[in-house]
Amino acid sequence: MTQDRASWLIKDEATLAELVDLMNLSSAEANLLQEMSAAAKDVAPQMTKAFYDRLFAHPQTAEYLQGVGIDRLHGMVQEWFAGLFCGVYDKTYAGRRLRIGEIHVRIGLPVRYPLAMLDVVMPFGETVAKQSAQPEAAAAAFRKVLALDVAIFNQAYEDNQLRHLAELVGGERLARRLLTGA
Ligand code: HEM
Repeated sequence: MTQDRASWLIKDEATLAELVDLMNLSSAEANLLQEMSAAAKDVAPQMTKAFYDRLFAHPQTAEYLQGVGIDRLHGMVQEWFAGLFCGVYDKTYAGRRLRIGEIHVRIGLPVRYPLAMLDVVMPFGETVAKQSAQPEAAAAAFRKVLALDVAIFNQAYEDNQLRHLAELVGGERLARRLLTGA
């Protein structure tokens, strides 16, 4: 039988604070990102265009975009990208990022697609970082916040599965044990 784990007690928005700690995201790094906020806003429309070009070119992802207000989505993804450089990674930030993950859970989107989209997002973040007075430190800070976002996005998927399984079997501990496959 798997033993209980301390990580199982960390829930919802608290996961971000835990991950900030795990990743050693410092306030100097957060400030560095904030300094590039305007540069990130400038690059965001280009990033978003590449993002949707990629999704529309693949039939299985394009299917999710049929009948969706694409102009609105463009704006929200731009905001999401610029948000990586907001400089404040607190509970409100975590909540906002979790909600974005939940929206994708609700449309039945397999998590492999958002994860694969990092290939599009990463080079644009690196382009922004190059404009910093400390480009290497800025790129390292960007990789951290992107990793945090991916982790939170994924957490929304895991929480959803766990919640449903826990309801079905009558408790989270049992659900977690079943998910280990043991
Ligand atoms: C890095 C990955 C992704 C990010 C950061 C992202 C970001 C967002 C954001 C910020 C929203 C608006 C959420 C809101 O209404 O508050 C959204 C909605 C949406 N996204 Fe994504 N997305 C990602 C991947 C994908 C992929 C791979 C697809 C598949 C085609 C997709 C399809 C959609 C759809 C259909 C909506 C609208 C949902 C609705 O309002 O019913 N997204 N996304």
